[in-house]
Amino acid sequence: GAPVTADISALGENQRLILEWRGQPIWIVKRSKAVLDALPTLDGELRDPKSENKDQQPAYIKGEFRSLKPEISVLVGLCTHLGCSPEMKAEIRPEPFDPNWKGGYFCPCHKSRFDMAGRVFQGVPAPSNLLVPPHHYADDNTIVIG
Ligand code: FES
Repeated sequence: GAPVTADISALGENQRLILEWRGQPIWIVKRSKAVLDALPTLDGELRDPKSENKDQQPAYIKGEFRSLKPEISVLVGLCTHLGCSPEMKAEIRPEPFDPNWKGGYFCPCHKSRFDMAGRVFQGVPAPSNLLVPPHHYADDNTIVIG
């Protein structure tokens, strides 16, 4: 499939842009500072906090934020269990499935949970973190997927 280009200039905090690339949903999310600050505090609850499974992201994606720019997350929006589309629950607030929720994604199919970097929590069916697709910035507000 051909690369897909996204203009993120109008993206607000904790908002998501959804595109399609190679038949898959691609999410581009601008994370708030509160959400970014929460990510390192979650490491102990995650299956692969440092994304050591190298199949989950390109080699140039490193660190807890799993992104090229700290605030902008780019993910394939498909649960790594059986491919349902997780719901985004970016706000830090109690959720029915987790009173200490610090923002992330919740898969309604079998209740897998991921943080706002797409890192999977322990004790859920999904085996690995959400995928980060190959991408780069053409300029400050233009991301090319693929
Ligand atoms: Fe998401 Fe099963 S497909 S938990």
